[in-house]
Amino acid sequence: MAEPSRLAVLGAGHVGPVIARLAVKAGYPVAIATSGDPDDIALITELVIPGAQPRWASDAVADADIVVLAIPLHRFADVDPGLLSGRLVVDAMNYWPASDGVLEAFEDGGSSEIVARRLSGSAVVKALNHIGYHELEARARPAGAPDRRAAGVAGDDPAAVAAVAGLVDRIGYDPVRLGNLRAGRVLQPGGPVFGAVLALPEFERAAGQDTRSLA
Ligand SMILES: NC(=O)c1ccc[n+]([C@@H]2O[C@H](COP(=O)([O-])OP(=O)(O)OC[C@H]3O[C@@H](n4cnc5c(N)ncnc54)[C@H](OP(=O)(O)O)[C@@H]3O)[C@@H](O)[C@H]2O)c1
Repeated sequence: MAEPSRLAVLGAGHVGPVIARLAVKAGYPVAIATSGDPDDIALITELVIPGAQPRWASDAVADADIVVLAIPLHRFADVDPGLLSGRLVVDAMNYWPASDGVLEAFEDGGSSEIVARRLSGSAVVKALNHIGYHELEARARPAGAPDRRAAGVAGDDPAAVAAVAGLVDRIGYDPVRLGNLRAGRVLQPGGPVFGAVLALPEFERAAGQDTRSLA
């Protein structure tokens, strides 16, 4: 079997640790970072995400094959696009004005398309954003489990989408490839599958209908 990809999870709030924990369980080497000193999250990481390594964001990213952005969108402007250049980036963020405040740049359209425009040197894939962090962990199941659920993956780079679909599969969900980043709008707040934890046929039905309307 190929060496598992190394993951860097940026964000150690609600969803970042869950993604990190699922990935550790699936056999990925995982580093987790905030915007600050990794010593500040060393103890909590040891307790809550055993097996993950707290690191400075820049070090975590430098060694990673896949970088997961699990930070609030209103903090995204602080991320240096140069840091992520040449990387496969999973955008797990959502535009949520109630907590982000109104961000003019994200008021219209797909948030990941806007993220991808800023990260023009990265391959951006939208995934892991549409299931709440409690459920993301509780509903994860191995491939073939009768009650396994689906999770969407959308991006403009087919190889990057395939890599992230593999990650989604290994951490416990049937990946549904949605074509391109624009089609990934179905995954964002207001979209038909946001907040829903659906089995594959229901997911495809819900997402497919809406994807067609965006074409
Ligand atoms: N909560 C959920 O159930 C859920 C599920 C799926 C997706 N999401 C999305 O994921 C994003 C994060 O949500 P959350 O609820 O996990 O947020 P949160 O609990 O507020 O956590 C944010 C984390 O991001 C870190 N952070 C901020 N700026 C950073 C930077 N530049 N580099 C590295 N780390 C940084 C913060 O640490 P410092 O402030 O110390 O840097 C903190 O650890 C949101 O866009 C949300 O919509 C959330």
